[in-house]
Amino acid sequence: MTTQTASIAASTIFSDRHTAYRFTSEQVTDGQLHQVYELAKFTPTALNSQPLRVTFVRTAEAKARLLPLLGETNREKSASAPVVAILAADTDFHEHLPVVSPHAAGAKERFAANDEGRAGMAINNAWLQAGGFILAVRAVGLDAGPMGGINAAGIDAEFFAGTPLRTFMVVNIGHVAEDGAFPRSPRLGFDQAVSLA
Ligand SMILES: Cc1cc2nc3c(=O)[nH]c(=O)nc-3n(C[C@H](O)[C@H](O)[C@H](O)COP(=O)(O)O)c2cc1C
Repeated sequence: MTTQTASIAASTIFSDRHTAYRFTSEQVTDGQLHQVYELAKFTPTALNSQPLRVTFVRTAEAKARLLPLLGETNREKSASAPVVAILAADTDFHEHLPVVSPHAAGAKERFAANDEGRAGMAINNAWLQAGGFILAVRAVGLDAGPMGGINAAGIDAEFFAGTPLRTFMVVNIGHVAEDGAFPRSPRLGFDQAVSLA
């Protein structure tokens, strides 16, 4: 499957797929990780700012650095995943604006002078991209286990010291094991979550 020709049923990324907690030993290739990013990058962001930065942790050495920085009950889940993606927001995303947002004259300079606004923009839009990222993992035929129970500051110190990257979640990636997902939790119905005005 190439990202250009991929055409899949919506159920493949929504109703048929679950959050994965335990994975089989089947490996995930770097090619598949490229495919995930090549889809996820199309998630729309404000000013096309694209602040999400992804670190795919897949070697034993890198995993040994990451696992102690996850919530205790989350460690085993990530240990069983062939790949764990660290999702971080680049608070210096504005450096790229002249290229990715050529229509927004002066935006880079305005964000450079507004640390608080820039940090908010980075985290909000990186979260938005994280949703697209999870669906992209599913779209390439893999399973995803997003987790927010992490020591984000600890991950920043271990992986991103001296950089403007701010970790906000990790996503376990692989092929879900037979008993690797919980039963589906109830979803709110249309009438509970939606108003027609
Ligand atoms: C932002 C976010 C943070 C989450 N944090 C954790 C976590 O720390 N540990 C965990 O076991 N599951 C975590 N989850 C998994 C959710 O509980 C799960 O996606 C949700 O219950 C839906 O489950 P389903 O896909 O099986 O329907 C997290 C999910 C998201 C999207």
